[in-house]
Amino acid sequence: MKILGIETSCDETAVAIVDEQKNILSHVLNSQIELHKKFGGVVPELAARGHIEVLDELILQALKNANLKFENIDGFAATSGPGLIGGVIVGMMAAKTLASVYKKPFLAVNHLEGHALTARLTSDLQFPFLLLLISGGHCQILFARGVGNYEKLGETIDDALGEAFDKVAQMLGLPYPGGPSVEKLALIGDEKRFKFSKPLIDGAKHKDHLCDFSFSGLKTAVRREIEKLVGEDFSHLTTPQKINEKDQADICASFQRVVCEIVLNRLDNVQLLEKGAKKLIIAGGVAANRYIFSALQNWSKKYDIEVIAPPIALCTDNAVMVAWAGVEKMRLGLVDSLEFKPKARWELV
Ligand code: KG4
Ligand code: ZN
Repeated sequence: MKILGIETSCDETAVAIVDEQKNILSHVLNSQIELHKKFGGVVPELAARGHIEVLDELILQALKNANLKFENIDGFAATSGPGLIGGVIVGMMAAKTLASVYKKPFLAVNHLEGHALTARLTSDLQFPFLLLLISGGHCQILFARGVGNYEKLGETIDDALGEAFDKVAQMLGLPYPGGPSVEKLALIGDEKRFKFSKPLIDGAKHKDHLCDFSFSGLKTAVRREIEKLVGEDFSHLTTPQKINEKDQADICASFQRVVCEIVLNRLDNVQLLEKGAKKLIIAGGVAANRYIFSALQNWSKKYDIEVIAPPIALCTDNAVMVAWAGVEKMRLGLVDSLEFKPKARWELV
C-alpha cells in the first residue's frame, strides 16, 4: 500500500509518498521561511497563497522521484487540521480532488497525530507510549493507546512551547524561526546567569495542574530581564541591537535551562500517574532541540524509560508524517468522506 500525503497547515508545503513497509519513497518540501521572515512570523494569507503556487508542482515531483504514477497510489492523505485554515483547505482540497479523480480513499490526517505517529515509522514502536507533543501551536503530554486513541495527561494553559521559543527569539531580535536560533545561541551562553521563575511549579503548589504547563509568565520574565539590560522599554526599538551577543546568549541558555526544568518536573508528575509506559516519544518542532532531548535522556534513566525522538527533519513539519498517518489509518479502515470539513482547531482528545 502506497499513500501520498500532503502538508500545508503552516509554513511548509510538502508532499511525500510512504508505503506500508515503512519506506519513504519520496519527500519534497518547500519552506516558506523567506516569505515570512521579514514579518517575524507566519502571515496566514501569504502562507495559503504560497501553498497554492507550489503544491501542484510538488505533487508531480514527489511522484517522479518515486518513479510512480497517480494510478499507483492507494490513498491520498492531507493534513485537515489543526492549522491555518487557508493552508489546510489548499492541501485538503488537492488530496480530495485526487481521491475523487482516481477513485481512491481520502484520508483526513490530524496534524498532531501525524507528529505523534512518526516514531512508529522511524522505529519499531508499539502502543502504548507516552507522548510529549511540543510544537509551535501545542504543548501536551498524552498517553497513546492506539491510532485515534489518546488520553490527555497535561497541556499548556497558555502558550505553546514553540511559541515561547519564538517570542523569546523575537524579543532578542534573533531570526525567525526562533527555536533553532535560541538553541544555537544558547550553546555559547551561561545557563545559570538568569534565574527565571517556573510558573505552576514555584511558590504555591497548583494541585489541579500537576502535569500542565504555563509559559506566558516565563516569557514576561525574559522580557523584564531584557528591559533591565537595555535600560528601557525595548518594544519601541526597531531592532534591539543594544543587547550584546553575550547577554543574548545568556538569556537563551537560561531560558532553555528553565524550560527543561519545567518539562522534567511535569514528566516526574506524570510518572506518579503510573501509566506503566516504557517509552516516551517526543514529537513536534521543539523535539528537534538537542538540549531538551539530552536532558530527557538523562531524566529517563531514573525511570527505566526509553526516550525516542524522530530524526530532526521529521520532527518539524513535513509530509512524511502525513503520509504515514494515512498508512496507519488506512490499515484500520479509517478512511474519510469527501465531505470532511477542514478544521482550524482539532484536538487529539
Ligand atoms: O511542529 P512544527 O514544525 O510546527 C507546528 O506544528 O507548530 O513546530 C514549529 C515550532 C516553532 O515554534 C519552532 O520555533 C520550534 O518548533 N522549533 C524549535 C526548534 N526547531 C523548531 N524549538 C526549539 N528548538 C529547536 N531546535
Ligand atoms: Zn507541526
